[in-house]
Amino acid sequence: MDLSSNEIKILKALQGGTLSPSEASLSSGLGEKETMSAAFWLKSKGLVKISEKSTIFYLANNEGQKYAEEGLPERRAAEWLNQFGESLIEDLPLDEGEKKVVIGWLKRKNYVDLEKTEDGLKLIPTGNLNETPDEPLLVLLNRRPISEKKIDKEGLALLKGRQLLETKEETTRKFSLTPDGQNFDLNGIDDNLIGELTPEMIQSGVWKDKTFQRYRLDTHVEPTDHATLHPLTRFTEEIRSIFLQMGFTEIEGDYVESAFWNMDALFIPQDHPARELQDTFYLSEPASFVINDEETMDRVKAIHEDGGETESIGWGSDWSREVAQQALLRTHTTVGTIRYLSEHSEPPIRVFSVGRVFRREALDATHLPEFTQVEGIIVEPEANFGMLIGVLKEFYRRMGFPDVRVRPAYFPYTEPSMEVEVKFGDRWLELGGSGIFRPEVTAPFGIDCPVLAWGLGLERLAMLRLGIKDIRMLYQSDLQWLKETI
Ligand code: PHE
Repeated sequence: MDLSSNEIKILKALQGGTLSPSEASLSSGLGEKETMSAAFWLKSKGLVKISEKSTIFYLANNEGQKYAEEGLPERRAAEWLNQFGESLIEDLPLDEGEKKVVIGWLKRKNYVDLEKTEDGLKLIPTGNLNETPDEPLLVLLNRRPISEKKIDKEGLALLKGRQLLETKEETTRKFSLTPDGQNFDLNGIDDNLIGELTPEMIQSGVWKDKTFQRYRLDTHVEPTDHATLHPLTRFTEEIRSIFLQMGFTEIEGDYVESAFWNMDALFIPQDHPARELQDTFYLSEPASFVINDEETMDRVKAIHEDGGETESIGWGSDWSREVAQQALLRTHTTVGTIRYLSEHSEPPIRVFSVGRVFRREALDATHLPEFTQVEGIIVEPEANFGMLIGVLKEFYRRMGFPDVRVRPAYFPYTEPSMEVEVKFGDRWLELGGSGIFRPEVTAPFGIDCPVLAWGLGLERLAMLRLGIKDIRMLYQSDLQWLKETI
């Protein structure tokens, strides 16, 4: 049988006979917690018996405390009656609740006689003011809890009956050896096992003469509650550290944006279906923004209408300033990227963001109207499509998805464009879009080297990592699930 050092110490201590936990702790030299846990392990191994005895203690409850200090209502009433003479119940200096119970007790304790009169019940003091056992007891129980055995029975019955007490249970334990424990041969057993091997032990070589504590990996331990971060917070941290290690800087943006930055600056045509009410949350307060960077507006307008100074022919229709100035909840974090580029056009640039985006999606097992995108760009003269694929593959590999493939796709702002998929089990799951920004996007901001860009979904990735089938789980605050999710 494998015993730990602590268990051996307790076994040795118990050879002298039955011990309480504190005695066992004293004679083994272990702390109280260690003593307890070693004793319970020894119990589970059949070597120690733990007998438990529980004792009930009584103490005054809130109402009892009040009466212990002021005196019981019948005591106060009787003293008052003895001083002022016979009176009606209404005249007693007691509160309403006390008046309801006091007559019964005054009678029972023989402090008054009762007489029915036209004005009501009259209380006539008997002159008896003798103390009953409940009174001194209540004072005692207001000072400290007393065990049932040591309490005056009559006083206890009275106080319990009036609900002036509360109880507390204390369990006392005794440890003793079972027959197996008595027969256990402790001769030659080292109770100084090495539980943890330290660098010092290795350097000095002391470990050579020692016995190692054996571990049982199949031991069942009760799960304990622990504080933990929400999985989405943890994944966000993980993603941050991956991009930071890859030389990226983090950027942030606002949830409320103009259509201009969210769409127009990204060459999304003004009649694009994604702009429609059923896809985008527009705001009513503010309903629009005044964009007064006229130069940028003019360049974006020209690009949309006829391609401006680029070789593009644009979308070939009139561009409306009102449409561009509409206020909305950002539909993708690419808005933060283009805003950043509008102020930083000098390569090299490597920035990323992790942020909430909003789309008018119906809520179901795979769609959320609010979700999180992991966005990034690389702006370097030598940047190319192969590099983009390489960076995304590396990102997913570091997130724990070694199999990544790309498919051609379409976004109004990138060319070429691709969708990234990761393999999970035997399925390929689409996790995000990416591509190289078109000249129509970069030209108005004077950027003339390639911009590799991507926007990836965080929640879907989280679903794969956590093995959940319903995306809503991530936002339901199911505490049980959150605690179990590591
Ligand atoms: N913005 C795109 C989306 O929301 C993703 C994307 C970002 C695509 C950058 C290409 C470049 O799906």
